Amino acid sequence: MKTARFIMAITMIMSACTPKLGRQSVDDVVKAMTTEEKVRTVVGTYTQPATPPEVAPGVTNRADYPGSGENTALSRNQVPGAAGDGYAVPRLGIPAVVYADGPAGLRIDPRREGDNNTYFCTAFPTATLLASAWDPAVVEKVGSAIGDEVHRYGVDILLAPGMNLQRNPLTGRNFEYYSEDPLVGGLTAAAYVRGVQSQGVGTSVKHFAANNQELYRNGINEIISDRALRELYLRSFEIAIKSAQPWTVMSSYNKINGTYASENAWLLSSVLRDEWGYEGFVMTDWFGADDPVAQMKAGNDLLMPGTPNQIDELLTAVESGKLPMEVLDRNVKRILTILEKTPRVQKYAYQNNPDLEAHAAIAREIATEGMVLLQNNGALPLPAGQKLALFGNYAYDTQPGGSGSGYVNRAYKVTLDKGLEAAGYSLEPCLAESYRNHIADEKAQLPPEYFWVVPTASEMEVKACPIEKTAAQADAAIVTLGRMSGEGGDRTATPGDYLLSDQEKQLLSDVSRSFHALGKPVVVVLNIGAPVDLTGVEKWADAILLAWLPGQEAGHAITDILSGKVNPSGKLSVSFAGDFTRIPSSRNFGVSAGEINTVRYEEDLMVGYRSGLQVQYPFGFGLSYTQFAYSNFRREGDQLFVTVKNEGQVPGREVVQIYVEKPALTPGRPQSELCAFAKTALLAPGETEEVCLGFTPVLGVDTRTQWAGDRWQLAPGRYRFWAAASSADLRCSLDWDIE
Ligand code: BGC
Repeated sequence: MKTARFIMAITMIMSACTPKLGRQSVDDVVKAMTTEEKVRTVVGTYTQPATPPEVAPGVTNRADYPGSGENTALSRNQVPGAAGDGYAVPRLGIPAVVYADGPAGLRIDPRREGDNNTYFCTAFPTATLLASAWDPAVVEKVGSAIGDEVHRYGVDILLAPGMNLQRNPLTGRNFEYYSEDPLVGGLTAAAYVRGVQSQGVGTSVKHFAANNQELYRNGINEIISDRALRELYLRSFEIAIKSAQPWTVMSSYNKINGTYASENAWLLSSVLRDEWGYEGFVMTDWFGADDPVAQMKAGNDLLMPGTPNQIDELLTAVESGKLPMEVLDRNVKRILTILEKTPRVQKYAYQNNPDLEAHAAIAREIATEGMVLLQNNGALPLPAGQKLALFGNYAYDTQPGGSGSGYVNRAYKVTLDKGLEAAGYSLEPCLAESYRNHIADEKAQLPPEYFWVVPTASEMEVKACPIEKTAAQADAAIVTLGRMSGEGGDRTATPGDYLLSDQEKQLLSDVSRSFHALGKPVVVVLNIGAPVDLTGVEKWADAILLAWLPGQEAGHAITDILSGKVNPSGKLSVSFAGDFTRIPSSRNFGVSAGEINTVRYEEDLMVGYRSGLQVQYPFGFGLSYTQFAYSNFRREGDQLFVTVKNEGQVPGREVVQIYVEKPALTPGRPQSELCAFAKTALLAPGETEEVCLGFTPVLGVDTRTQWAGDRWQLAPGRYRFWAAASSADLRCSLDWDIE
């Protein structure tokens, strides 16, 4: 009896002495860890995803990934459908934190075995649309709504935002990324991170860095000059990291100048931490690279989703001294310092009860902020109550987002036909019925939709409802063109993808001929995640609305713009260049000629509008149902001011852009570069606003500087600043002599 009491007392004293994460200092917790606990903390506990029963045989999914084995048993799979879990050390109060995708909304399984509840998430507009709003405040609102779902569904860290630069229009994941410009990308990401993290959960800005293609993504070696890296591919991360301190960073799969990003000490330690002052931790992309010891040493703190081999290799390396204990301790400490803030350590009791209705309203609102009106000869807005001839599969099967890890399991999606009907438009019935039947028939033969694969029906030939007859019966035509893409593959510069297919061109020309013969307008709606070559569309269409991949409220949001309920105010965050072969990066996209697994960024800084190419629709461009005049462009200290006046008939918002011509320190610099932007409030007809644009304090970096071999430099000399409505619509200038 006495002995038992004695043992109990000793156990109590010992456990009272054992430090606990969240209660004692992280240093004390690390000191109390065994080597094995430390190693397991830097390796995730891979969860073999349950293959949903509805997935047809042969569909590729994550179950094909390597790994699993012993770790599967360790995995807690606390939130089904999450991308990974951390390792728990209960005796030290370290829980298994949950990591889940992704950029357009949380991705978890919507249903659970033996549970009648549903776990749907809101599919928000995809990244390119968010960036096209040029409005960090609305992006922050989306971030908070996503963060709320992350929190309430019991996830700790969201694997988003995706923020690689859109180097070339064919990158399969462009829809997950923001812009061809690092300032737009960086500020949009920063706003998103602030929003998500305001809810007490973390983000992972990804994929650090230069993950600009899907082809050979796990091993492609990207040869990039220091200058292009600093000014383009790292710059957006630098802005987001300095101004929003994301909890985590996800390193990318690719190599940069010969070294895997996750094994790259220059990238992850010298630049990210020493120069930028980053204090969170770095995780790999899923199964990224192949040398865990090199990853640890480089400063890639966590290996995700974790494999048994990595654990063995690290344990052996610690034993042999190949991996110094100080390095392991450093990485563990960085991870635990962030984990301390997570809902799991804070013991948040989640209820799985986000307000999906309120979030759908936010999704609809932001979708209208980022759609871009590319052309309008007065055909839009469409008068209320019209009868519309709605052509194109994507009108009836509108796509909210892309596929891959950025897919969201939403409760529903509103297609354009339904959105128009809900707003009081009627649809030409023969067309509507044949499209709906065609899509239903084809989809019945296709595998069901699953995050990795989103099957779409082939375009229908409009035979059953002759276009001439339809034109006589309807007030206007809407032709919807769509493209899907996703993780795991790039797009191609072929008809039906980057180019319009012959069938699409035929449809556009037939519709245009019949409707225009009767004086009726043709509106084209683009349901795409990245640019296509729109050659010819401008002559067939009276108006072109770029709806992007606008989230689950797609149909309502597109209708809000078409009807004029919302005046469009989005502007292009990426150029629509037209002819693919003229785009400088196209010469080295995928693999450079004569190379194996290597792509040389020979275009250097000449990406997007920086190349000075004549394009179809320039970066920064977007029309409104009103017009804006710019005046009184002036400087006061380090700030620029410009007055914007709404000179039209309806209220609207304008995106003001400042481009700068810098005195060049090195040859091959772009003529001008975006250095600041702001969006006005909703201005009533006749109303003016003086917009103020600042530099370092607002942007986190000084966009007037350039990379001068080994550092940023503000070159002395004359700078010309332009207040502009787009990169090709420069309105007023001022010169500023900088010493
Ligand atoms: C993707 C990441 C994603 C991860 C987890 C990877 O394949 O590249 O963006 O976060 O999977 O799903």
